[in-house]
Amino acid sequence: MQVEDIRPEGWACTYLVANDGRAVLIDPVWDYIQHYESVLGQRGLELVACMATHTHADHITACFTLSQEREIPFYMWKDTASLGVTDYVDETSSLTIAGVEYSFQYVPGHTSDSMIIRVEGHIFTGDFLFNGNAGVGRDDLPSGRLKEHWDSIQSLSNLPDDVLVCSGHEPPGTELQTLGWNRLHNPILMMTSFDQFVEWQTKTAEQLGSVSKIKTALPANLFAEIPDEIPWLSQ
Ligand SMILES: [Fe+2]
Repeated sequence: MQVEDIRPEGWACTYLVANDGRAVLIDPVWDYIQHYESVLGQRGLELVACMATHTHADHITACFTLSQEREIPFYMWKDTASLGVTDYVDETSSLTIAGVEYSFQYVPGHTSDSMIIRVEGHIFTGDFLFNGNAGVGRDDLPSGRLKEHWDSIQSLSNLPDDVLVCSGHEPPGTELQTLGWNRLHNPILMMTSFDQFVEWQTKTAEQLGSVSKIKTALPANLFAEIPDEIPWLSQ
């Protein structure tokens, strides 16, 4: 099994999980479908499924388009409000896709439908958890809840140190680290009180400001519809 971040640019990570000539995409971005197709073609891989760790606000997912065009499953957490999902998962789901086992852990907070996807030595954490100083995703966007996020972070204790944290956003070129490393270097995982978490989230939200693509991306993802005009692609 091979896991690789195949984003062509930007800060949103898209992971290819490949095994035995077949592949799954986790958090693909609509803007880069052609890029994914050329990567799959070059490597002789057949795309058999796609998954989203949560309903994204910062980009349009490629999941519903790839699912419709290729007639492959699109997996999301069972209670997601997003349309276009073909298969819902929960913590009892255990899937074998292309010879690789997938399981899921509910980690609400960044959004109410956030989940960790677990695959042989890797955890795909979306915006629930980033590597190192990046901390975690913000909780001030639709369906975000600070206390739920904090409680979800405490639930990480069931996961071993040696899993690699494959997160939803990292600066280009970032080396992914294990959960054990993050337990020593990620400020959020070292916090001891909810108040510290609230303070960090408040400061981070102020620094980040508004999400530029949210008014296009979020409705597109919720309704599984590509809008007629995508401002960042028509400039
Ligand atoms: Fe997000």
